Amino acid sequence: MSTPPTWHTTPYPLITTPKFTTPAPHDPFTLAATDMALVHNVIIRGLNSIHHQAPYISSLPTAEKLTFIKYCLFWFGFLHAHHTSEEEVMFPKISAAVGVPEVMEVNVTQHADFTPPLLEFKTYLDSLLADPDTFDSNKLISLIEAFAPTLTQHLHDEIPTLLNLRQHGDKIDILRISNEEGEHSMKSMSMTGETCWFMANLDLTYEGGIHKDFPPAPGVIKWWIRSVAWKWNGVCWRWGSCSKDGNPKALSIREL
Ligand SMILES: [Fe+2]
Repeated sequence: MSTPPTWHTTPYPLITTPKFTTPAPHDPFTLAATDMALVHNVIIRGLNSIHHQAPYISSLPTAEKLTFIKYCLFWFGFLHAHHTSEEEVMFPKISAAVGVPEVMEVNVTQHADFTPPLLEFKTYLDSLLADPDTFDSNKLISLIEAFAPTLTQHLHDEIPTLLNLRQHGDKIDILRISNEEGEHSMKSMSMTGETCWFMANLDLTYEGGIHKDFPPAPGVIKWWIRSVAWKWNGVCWRWGSCSKDGNPKALSIREL
């Protein structure tokens, strides 16, 4: 089986999915936690792609700097949509199903822990839109490093939290809730922005290709995203870690 490129797994490691390691890969809790791990891995790959390429952006022409700044903002937009959807749809439904209001509380607390430095990152990127030539690689990386350890730990921790819901058994239809969260999240994103950003960091060869059909959307929708929506902000997707067809690709700027 092929190993992910180092720029997918550093500085922040990817999550091994439960489906890849469990002897019961079709258990609903395994499947829901696996879907969550795959989404989290897209977020981590995207963050790694920003961290690896940021040091080389300052010397680029203004228009190219702007495409990188927008790419970073799409990363933020995707993460924000994901966490908002969890807090507004997924976590309340899980709490209601199991009858334990605080069952997902640790995840909400973790969201709150990294939000202030994450918003500083967003504020800095917003400020660069008007004047991309003031882009400062060191500043961007220091802003990332202020929230990334806490964020990525949270992204890893949420997977066993979902698996542990198995103790509540039939009280919770975890796959239905997981799918509702996914649909809510997708609808809150721009098809030509965050959705394409997601595709630009989705590695369908991961773990030997066992997730090649992810996400569970109709084929015609995936075709439309890759063939039509992709072009709208197409100049931004060069910074992604994967091709639009889900294969790992070399970063647009590689360290020498
Ligand atoms: Fe999540």
